[in-house]
Amino acid sequence: MNYTNIHVTKEAGYAIVQLNRPDVLNAINIALMQELVEALENLDKDNDVRCIILTGNEKAFAAGADIKEMADASAVDMLIRDQFARWDKIRRIKKPLIAAVSGFALGGGCELMMTCDIVIASESAKIGQPEINIGVMPGAGGTQRLTRAVGKAKAMEVVLTGKMITAAEALQWGLINKIVPVEYYLQDAKDLAKEIASKPPVAVRLAKEAVLKSFDTTIEGGLEFERKNFYLLFASEDQKEGMKAFVEKRKADWKGK
Ligand code: HXC
Repeated sequence: MNYTNIHVTKEAGYAIVQLNRPDVLNAINIALMQELVEALENLDKDNDVRCIILTGNEKAFAAGADIKEMADASAVDMLIRDQFARWDKIRRIKKPLIAAVSGFALGGGCELMMTCDIVIASESAKIGQPEINIGVMPGAGGTQRLTRAVGKAKAMEVVLTGKMITAAEALQWGLINKIVPVEYYLQDAKDLAKEIASKPPVAVRLAKEAVLKSFDTTIEGGLEFERKNFYLLFASEDQKEGMKAFVEKRKADWKGK
């Protein structure tokens, strides 16, 4: 795994993908995005990995898409680059994604954070969609995911003013899961990753899929989808093992099947 713009580390049961363009606050250029998608897709197929942490450094998770790379682009250039096809691939990652965020999570950085399933933030996190200040608007899901997460009023405020919100505001608004001191945010994400990695993987996968389904379906369709995934889990060895272990008052031994 030789990457230039990211670092990938595997621990027992989970992996950490660290954005690695510290000189530009992890601004997301095409090269970084290509590597990120490749790494995530490989980890998604890796049976040793059951959860993935996406992180930056203390100063920045990511300060957005690389402005210098797109400053002179025409609409047709942007269309041909089709960068959002890569973002769609991240949305399709099946394993749980935990964002461990410190410092700036702006623009595309905020959107990347919101593409993750759970967000652990350090006290120093500064989150926002400042695209309006450079003559554009969110393009990688910001208007949709932020609105679903925090509601129309707050989303409008963030998107139309470009203001940054603090970790405390983000927590209060329901955009992130937890705030921890800067020294611990990555450790906290690791602890959570370990916990998720200890759960039956097939159930984790189908549960994530069902929660995400709620974003693009009616309640009727979503309940139907949930029910089918629930029934499907009764075809797994882990369901038999999990329920048997409960009855026998012992710890379940998950097979991931
Ligand atoms: C390219 C960036 C960058 C970015 C920071 N840098 N953000 N380069 N694209 N998004 C670079 C700076 O040019 C500078 O490089 C170095 O990182 C350090 O940044 P400073 O501005 O000197 O740091 P600071 O004064 O601490 O200010 C931090 C900041 C500011 C408030 C985060 O950098 C900033 O406003 N950045 C842009 C944030 C933004 O607008 N993001 C949205 C982008 S559009 P040099 O070489 O000068 O040292 C977007 C659209 C997404 O994300 C669409 C989907 C793909």
